[in-house]
Amino acid sequence: MRIILNCEFFSIELISRASLNALHAMSRILLALLFTLPTLLPAQTLNLYSARHYQSDEALYADFTKTTGIKINRLELGDDALLERLRAEGKRSPADAVLLVDATRLWRAQQEGLFSPVDSATLRERIPATMRADDGSWYGFSTRARVIIYDPAKVKREQVDTYLKLADPVNEGRLCTRSGSHPYNLSLFASVLERLGAERTKAWLSGMVKNMARAPVGGDTDQIRAVASGECQVAISNSYYWVRLNLSDKPEDREVVSKVAMLWPDQDGHGVHVNLSGGAVAANAPNRESAVRFLEYLASDQAQRYFTAGNNEWPVVDGVDHGNPALTALGEHKVDPLPLAKIASRSPQAQQLLDEVGYR
Ligand SMILES: [Fe+2]
Repeated sequence: MRIILNCEFFSIELISRASLNALHAMSRILLALLFTLPTLLPAQTLNLYSARHYQSDEALYADFTKTTGIKINRLELGDDALLERLRAEGKRSPADAVLLVDATRLWRAQQEGLFSPVDSATLRERIPATMRADDGSWYGFSTRARVIIYDPAKVKREQVDTYLKLADPVNEGRLCTRSGSHPYNLSLFASVLERLGAERTKAWLSGMVKNMARAPVGGDTDQIRAVASGECQVAISNSYYWVRLNLSDKPEDREVVSKVAMLWPDQDGHGVHVNLSGGAVAANAPNRESAVRFLEYLASDQAQRYFTAGNNEWPVVDGVDHGNPALTALGEHKVDPLPLAKIASRSPQAQQLLDEVGYR
């Protein structure tokens, strides 16, 4: 009897020890897995193709990774080079999200099938309908305005306070612009086309060609410098180039801003033309979910401030305070409410009109 009990006791103890050993072994395996899993499984990543390269973007990307755990691999290229790369890579492209400037560029890329539409309640709620593609192919995240720069010593403000006046005979020989085909100008011209129709827009563009002090050349800052140097008296520029010159400590830049003035066009009419910096999910995004989260992140209050600070632009999300004294210094202004997708869709016809009137 005792032996049996002993045996039973002995056998029970044996099983318990075996179980304990097994449990220990299992917990050791679990612990080991816990530590090695992050290296075995790929961490969530985002391959970002960006035409932006500003200091403040570093903080933006770091904050995104901190918030979401998604690591960003970045490729920074100029707008055109970036699009060329996407085209060349085709279906094998590692790009997940794409950042570009100007609605005309984004629209073209959309037409080429380089983007994949995103249906996101967050983006629909946060980004105004006028600042995104109708089908969610791209979303604007900051805005810039196309302002008029003039020489107040030689030009009366009221002679150049609308885009249409740039074609008035009074401004003959005064105007300088960058290429008409550049997306910044093409979008502006397409907005005029959307409002006035082809005939009147063609007459306007033709008037501007007649008023040119020189053939179109250089970028927006070059136009501002040309007004300061006296080569011309009126120019068109994106607002951030003007702000950049105003913030510069360089004596040559100080001299430029002391000689020229900036005005908000069409403030008694439709308002100044604004364009955007925008983002999209790439057509063949391997990490689509990460890309959508990135776009949604860009629409957050925090990201809006980072995103706009880098290039002295305005947030697109309603109620976000840019907190940028350089923008406040530009004063209040009325913005043209035309939807940018609509404007951009007019850009091929605007280009055709440019060709017809010989606006290079
Ligand atoms: Fe620019």
